[in-house]
Amino acid sequence: MSGINKKAKKRDIAIIGTGYVGLITGVCFASLGHNIICVDKDKNKIALLNNGQIPIYEPGLDKILKKHRKNILFTTDSKKAIEESGIIFIAVNTPTGKRGEIDMKYFKAAIREIATQIEEYKIIVNKSTVPVGTGEWVQKEIKKYYQGNFSVVSNPEFLREGSALKDFLKPDRIIIGAEDNKSKKIMLEIYSKIEAPLLVVDIKSAELIKYAANAFLATKISFINEIANLCEKINGDVVKVAEGIGLDKRIGPKFLNAGIGYGGSCFPKDVRGLDSIGKEYKYNFNIIKAVMLVNQKQQERFVRKIKKILNKIKGNRIGVWGLSFKPNTDDVRKSPAIAIIKELQKNINYKIQAYDPIAIENAKKEIPFKNIKYSKNAYEAAKNADILILITDWSEFSKINMQRVKKSMRQYYILDGRNQLNPENIKKLGFYYEGIGRK
Ligand code: UDX
Repeated sequence: MSGINKKAKKRDIAIIGTGYVGLITGVCFASLGHNIICVDKDKNKIALLNNGQIPIYEPGLDKILKKHRKNILFTTDSKKAIEESGIIFIAVNTPTGKRGEIDMKYFKAAIREIATQIEEYKIIVNKSTVPVGTGEWVQKEIKKYYQGNFSVVSNPEFLREGSALKDFLKPDRIIIGAEDNKSKKIMLEIYSKIEAPLLVVDIKSAELIKYAANAFLATKISFINEIANLCEKINGDVVKVAEGIGLDKRIGPKFLNAGIGYGGSCFPKDVRGLDSIGKEYKYNFNIIKAVMLVNQKQQERFVRKIKKILNKIKGNRIGVWGLSFKPNTDDVRKSPAIAIIKELQKNINYKIQAYDPIAIENAKKEIPFKNIKYSKNAYEAAKNADILILITDWSEFSKINMQRVKKSMRQYYILDGRNQLNPENIKKLGFYYEGIGRK
């Protein structure tokens, strides 16, 4: 690898932070033939990985890790990682702080470790989602301790949970924020085996691209959710409206699925993060604030619908399908299901029976254990229920025998929070069906 003397380096690439982003990045670079050292402070996580186990659920990750395991070293020894590699990716988490700001403590700690240890040229690559201007801070921070030559690069990730490997190895684009030729050349090299548009920009623009992308996607979701809310008043069908506007190539059909709103570890954090970046640079975002407000209200609207139906039918037993923030993940961070169930639990008469294909264990850590029980399958969650609410659109819910479900329910109400089920078919079976913005 030109620029960085490969002989002197036992590892081409170090990844600091072995969470969703760091682990996927390390494993994918290993699959491209690089020698990787993955570091994490969490001893248990590293022990699991050294034991061939995976601390996160990501389809296909176990297979690709097994295949390239010999190219990866997992360790808690960050000194060794910094010393032995020429390119150091920072992939630690940058959570939302108490006042909605971006909490940089883990990121700054990682940079300080590098700054106090670096003794020769290295490239420090910010993969974590960091506020605009962080690259500048990294430059200054390292220069406080080390006067030699180094490069700082911004390389934001666009990984979706559940499709992270594809999103890394077959991305829509690669963004490199680099401001010197040496680091540009080396970054182009390490990504050379991935066929995708690769855009080299200044560091600040690369940092902003990450936030702008997530905030725009969240804006599409809140926009179609508002259209859905109007559809409920005019008796329109938001699925048809979304199809109709999505045929315009300038809009596109994706991310126009109306529902109970977005969750996850990124959208809520990054939309709020962009708003706080605006505040820091004295710009007041109007649209971003509206996107967050609409998303919050969408969940509240859904809970009101549930309560209204239960009041009307004098029901109290609620079947819940789906707990993860989206299908194909066990992640419940900022999942609408958690907020909705906690709100319903305030009524002690409600009896909740919840099912999710893989997220129940994580949900149990977030949901108080009162007036709720967890079911081992979708049918059990619907048994004797007055209302069945679909919160996460797992594909298995489209294949359920709804006649069998109806036979087991006490009353036959279905609230479909993700417009996953087919209203006509469901109504033909004798259910009362309500979606989000459906006719
Ligand atoms: C997102 C971005 O897609 C990814 O590029 C970024 O790197 C990280 O954040 P992720 O949070 O894993 O990825 O999930 P995503 O598939 O984007 O869905 C986010 C939320 O939006 C989910 O709660 C999903 O249910 C919701 N959503 C998505 C909608 O409500 N409607 C849609 O049309 C699409």
